[in-house]
Amino acid sequence: MTDDIETTRADAPMGDEPRADAAITFRDVTKTVLTADGPKSLIKNVTLDFEEGGVYGVIGLGGAGKSTLLKLIDGTITPTSGIVDVLGENVAGLDDRGLARLRSRISRAGVFPDFDEERTILESVAVAAGEAENAERPDEAARAKALRLLREVSLRSQKDAHPSQLSGGELQRAAVARAFASAPRILLFDEVTAAQDHIEGREILRLIRQFAKESGATVVLATHEIATVKEICDHIVVLDRGFVVEEGPTYAVISDPQTDQTRVFLEAASSLGKVDALLAGHDPVVDLRPGQKLIALRYVHEDVSEPLVSLVTRKFGIDVNIMLADVQIVGKYPIGGIVGVFEGPERNIRDAVAFLRSKKVRVEILSEN
Ligand SMILES: Nc1ncnc2c1ncn2[C@@H]1O[C@H](COP(=O)(O)OP(=O)(O)OP(=O)(O)O)[C@@H](O)[C@H]1O
Ligand SMILES: [Mg+2]
Repeated sequence: MTDDIETTRADAPMGDEPRADAAITFRDVTKTVLTADGPKSLIKNVTLDFEEGGVYGVIGLGGAGKSTLLKLIDGTITPTSGIVDVLGENVAGLDDRGLARLRSRISRAGVFPDFDEERTILESVAVAAGEAENAERPDEAARAKALRLLREVSLRSQKDAHPSQLSGGELQRAAVARAFASAPRILLFDEVTAAQDHIEGREILRLIRQFAKESGATVVLATHEIATVKEICDHIVVLDRGFVVEEGPTYAVISDPQTDQTRVFLEAASSLGKVDALLAGHDPVVDLRPGQKLIALRYVHEDVSEPLVSLVTRKFGIDVNIMLADVQIVGKYPIGGIVGVFEGPERNIRDAVAFLRSKKVRVEILSEN
């Protein structure tokens, strides 16, 4: 494939025909929706090939169109113009049965895994495995496979737990096991490590990479974390306001970005990454008094423009004592993160957190007293 590096860079036009060795192809795909402010294009003129067996990272700031791209792949939405071809089929041309068949070959996992509370984790993973099992005794084979997967994600001892009994990180690992249980040809991961601490996140990525390479499945992973892409992706696709501004082998794009948008994004991501690294490196040791909470704010959206910390302190009558901060202004917007001790009435802090989230700041409560 290295011969194709140059021709698959974003500036080189590709042929109109889907490539034979591609699991997924986009040909001049645009997705436009109607909003109160008129039509808005979420994905613009995207032409891409995702090779069979490749591990792809789709990166971009919040609102860049990453989740929309994934939804076009599994037919949750269809293009306004252009063609999305998945496993040899034009997704928009499929009837309900065709779409169901295609989806049975695709697994998805997002930030919040949707497990059935009525079932144990083992049962849920076994159900997914059973769908792919042609063995003589499908139940037994599915259960054995589910057990093996749960062991690989270090959840064997919690196999009989129900979802509400697992931590966020454990549920994510269960979701990765379930995603691979049905032997999919394509896996779509949307910000799977967003709810993880650093070590857990890396472990999940390692598992995704390992399972992908064992099964030969094609993985498309949407994230705003460059570290995630560097960790496990062979290829990178950089999205900016719906456009693919650059794509190619991860190493080539990161070491020698060809566009200003990619450079800006890499710069932004590195300042976000610094906050994560600071958090991972040492727990900011703070003795919280009653009523205090240690909270991380991550600015990942390109439309966060207000000075939000001073605004929430005034608006909600709370104090914020900043412990760590690494925020850069990229374009007009702050990108990066802050870790601070929030102090004030419980209710006011809760309202402040809700307000920050409504402003598209990612808020994580690290510890509280
Ligand atoms: N159904 C819709 N109607 C109108 N606008 C939408 C719709 N779905 C998404 N958008 C907008 O399209 C843009 C792209 O959204 P998308 O969810 O794909 O971004 P993203 O890159 O996944 O962002 P994030 O990192 O925040 O998850 C955003 O500005 C979003 O608000
Ligand atoms: Mg998204």
